[in-house]
Amino acid sequence: MFLKCTLCGKTYAPDEIQYVCPDHGDDGILDVMYDYDEINRRASPAKISESRENSVWRYWDLLPLTTPPPAPPLQVGWTPLYHAEHVGAQLGLEQLYIKDDGRNPTASFKDRASVVVVAKARELGVAMITTASSGNAGAALAGCAASAHIPATIFVPETAPQAKVAQLLMFGARVFLVRGTYDQASDLCLAASKEFGWYCRNTAYNPYTTEGKKTCALEICEQLALLHHGYPQATVTRALREMLTPQFVAPELWHAPDRIFVSVGDGNIISGIWKGLRDLYALGWIDKLPKLMGVQAEGSAACYNAWRAGTDVITPIQSHTIADSIDVGFPRDGRRAVRAVRATGGEFITVSDAEILDAMPLLARGEAVFAEPAASAAYAGLLKAVREQKLDRDETVVVVITGNGLKDIKSAMQAAGHATVIEPTLDAVRNAMT
Ligand SMILES: Cc1ncc(COP(=O)(O)O)c(C=O)c1O
Ligand SMILES: [Zn+2]
Repeated sequence: MFLKCTLCGKTYAPDEIQYVCPDHGDDGILDVMYDYDEINRRASPAKISESRENSVWRYWDLLPLTTPPPAPPLQVGWTPLYHAEHVGAQLGLEQLYIKDDGRNPTASFKDRASVVVVAKARELGVAMITTASSGNAGAALAGCAASAHIPATIFVPETAPQAKVAQLLMFGARVFLVRGTYDQASDLCLAASKEFGWYCRNTAYNPYTTEGKKTCALEICEQLALLHHGYPQATVTRALREMLTPQFVAPELWHAPDRIFVSVGDGNIISGIWKGLRDLYALGWIDKLPKLMGVQAEGSAACYNAWRAGTDVITPIQSHTIADSIDVGFPRDGRRAVRAVRATGGEFITVSDAEILDAMPLLARGEAVFAEPAASAAYAGLLKAVREQKLDRDETVVVVITGNGLKDIKSAMQAAGHATVIEPTLDAVRNAMT
């Protein structure tokens, strides 16, 4: 395993460097590179599909860690992939799947990155771990750090939804509510980590976040293969213990979808998903690369703008959207995100705040998946792509739901409508129904 600068291609040994390429300052994000032949000598799709580990650690052979699992012992990943037959039928899509990552322990996709970074922190023996966050990455780091008993310091904007702040405090992190934007919190966290020598998980700075996030792509391809192999929905979503009967025949290859819809703020989730797909393709474990569909809020569309302009240089914007988790003026991993979308022949889509809120009850009532606004954005992007007739009926489409709706009750109440208050009598019920 080695690290490679995404700008100049220079390579480094993992013990030589901790964060970014020194030749490019904070822009020199590092990709983690593997010897794929060596991985293929010890691992295979079938071997992994026979594993009973129902967390990201089933992909240990594809992760940049040396300490044996579990590290830390929190169950992150192996979230359900639902065949969304009901809304799929309404939308004219036979193979529509919802990956519910709000089912992670701190209720967002960010647990994937945090659990791998905390495992790395444990290997390094660090005394304090830190991150800036719009809320979810912080909650995820606070939870994973609590699980590994490493102290954490988290910087979030003062405006972060209360539920996310409650998570941070509950997991025992030291919490700084920064009077400023997420972008300012990010800069401050970086400066503090340099000043005080803390291990920094900041997105697009710590190279291992992407490696954690890629596990979502590995799961999607493995779970689709299991579904196509005749294993029913429930066996894929339930604990593997129930699934592995003596008759189980593991798939020799995994199955990539045609498209994956992902909401984009900093661009690290979509970059991680791209990395996972590239790893699987290079290993020969999938036979095609899906088109990545990046979805941004209209008021926070820096990656979309760069993609439209045919460049991967990101111009910062004044950002504003109800979807706090993707409210990012200067996407830290924007360049890789734009490259991911372009390299796969996908597209960027923007959705309005109204479309994001409208999509929340549609998904919740159609498939019983309750998304927070940033996660709903991906689904709103799918709805827009369907309206604009961008998809074929028989395409296999996955929408990643990156965070649970309970994270932001204020927005949920705005989207869900109002309950009726009544007197405790049957007459009142009767009257209220007319
Ligand atoms: C729920 C949710 N969705 C999407 C995103 C966007 O991820 P990224 O900032 O890596 O693009 C985030 C990031 O905070 C998030 O919390
Ligand atoms: Zn470089």
